[in-house]
Amino acid sequence: MSAKSDATRWGSVAKCLHWLIAIAVIGLLVGGLTMTDMKVSPDKFRWYALHKSFGVTVLVLMLLRFAWRGIDGRPQAVPGVAPIVAFAAHSVHRLFYVALIVMPISGWVYNSA
Ligand code: HEM
Repeated sequence: MSAKSDATRWGSVAKCLHWLIAIAVIGLLVGGLTMTDMKVSPDKFRWYALHKSFGVTVLVLMLLRFAWRGIDGRPQAVPGVAPIVAFAAHSVHRLFYVALIVMPISGWVYNSA
């Protein structure tokens, strides 16, 4: 498997960033909802600290992802896909990008306030 993407496949670096971010975000969602319901205890503080570390890591990974995307490009659209479906897929992809930048920054701002 090549590190860089080609016309038909994402490369290993893009796939690796994709899965690292996906796993971290699922963990942050589940961990975030769990930790806020915990009784005040040293464990609760440990969960909060871990949550913040993983949250900031997602922000860094997203910035790396944008930088890599600039160098790497992306596979071409699959031929035969209806324009409306391609537009929907593209829009959802962009919304994920925005959400994954806004969520860690808003968490950081909330925590600092
Ligand atoms: C993609 C990144 C992130 C996701 C998906 C995420 C998700 C969540 C979720 C689901 C909650 C629970 C909300 C609730 O039940 O009220 C939460 C709470 C929290 N998050 Fe994040 N978070 C992210 C990044 C961050 C970052 C970077 C920080 C700080 C540096 C942070 C700080 C906090 C704090 C302090 C709370 C507790 C809020 C409270 O006690 O009411 N989060 N987060």
